Amino acid sequence: MPAVISFVSTKGGVGKTTVAANLGGLLAAFGLKVLAIDADVQPSLSKFFPVHYRSPRGLSAVVTSGGKPCADCISRTIFSNLDLIYSDTPDAELQAWLNRREDRLMILRRAMRSPLMEAYDVVLIDTQGAVGELQKSAAMAADIMVSPVKPDSLSAAEFATGTIAMLDDLNRLADFGELFRSGDLLALINAHERTTNARALAAVLRQRFSDHPKVRVLDTVIPSAAAYAAAATARVPVHDFDRRRSFGNSAWNVMHRLAWELFPSQANVYAGSRAHMIDCPLTADSAHGAIA
Ligand SMILES: Nc1ncnc2c1ncn2[C@@H]1O[C@H](COP(=O)(O)OP(=O)(O)OP(=O)(O)O)[C@@H](O)[C@H]1O
Ligand SMILES: [Mg+2]
Repeated sequence: MPAVISFVSTKGGVGKTTVAANLGGLLAAFGLKVLAIDADVQPSLSKFFPVHYRSPRGLSAVVTSGGKPCADCISRTIFSNLDLIYSDTPDAELQAWLNRREDRLMILRRAMRSPLMEAYDVVLIDTQGAVGELQKSAAMAADIMVSPVKPDSLSAAEFATGTIAMLDDLNRLADFGELFRSGDLLALINAHERTTNARALAAVLRQRFSDHPKVRVLDTVIPSAAAYAAAATARVPVHDFDRRRSFGNSAWNVMHRLAWELFPSQANVYAGSRAHMIDCPLTADSAHGAIA
């Protein structure tokens, strides 16, 4: 079964789609089979990369079947190894449908156990930047959650209250049994400016969650750089857009560091080289890496 990462935050515009798309693009370039799922009702990830085969159906078929994806829900991007389930439904409709289902939190988790998923090494699920049943279902489907945080006081505060409250909310369901336990949450400092204030906020975040049982702040920091928006405009993965190997904070280097931190078994695999197989997820209190 694939390793599943959901990108969650209760704040919009923190970089969930940017990181999900670029990590997907890089892991696919490592040679891993990657499925990106756009579980945001505003379909940004769906449009991020060009597709060469658009499937007749998308996310709504996966959800309204109760978590039974079929082959005609899966589109193919122009990048080899990178497939997509696009978002295809207006917000109110799908949320209303989910609200009527008692098993709504388990639907995407069930989908991850479908035989179709055996073809993938990694599934990346992008979500909307606001609490909703679809976001919670995506959170419950994940082995780990990655939550980008911009090092400004509003984003850091929203992470510390809103996103952590969502995690606690999900784990209150753990009282009903192990089946309901969510994965751990990894905070990713994104769009970091080289200012004293940003550095101080990043340090506060690390300190605050240093002994949290289910939350860890990733070592990799993504700087604020024009390449991220420019690559999105060009519709290519950012590692391919800013390929400067000699500059430590180039998108090439930063995205490789992020991929290696999340998937230590890929350490020293580069875009374009062959990948090793990956397996079992780690936890927030692991010293290094999220997915071994
Ligand atoms: N590291 C970065 N440096 C500079 N700009 C960035 C960086 N990461 C993301 N951005 C820009 O920030 C904006 C918001 O990013 P993105 O759409 O990925 O956020 P999001 O969390 O998915 O938002 P939403 O909650 O609306 O879905 C985009 O214009 C993107 O190009
Ligand atoms: Mg988004």
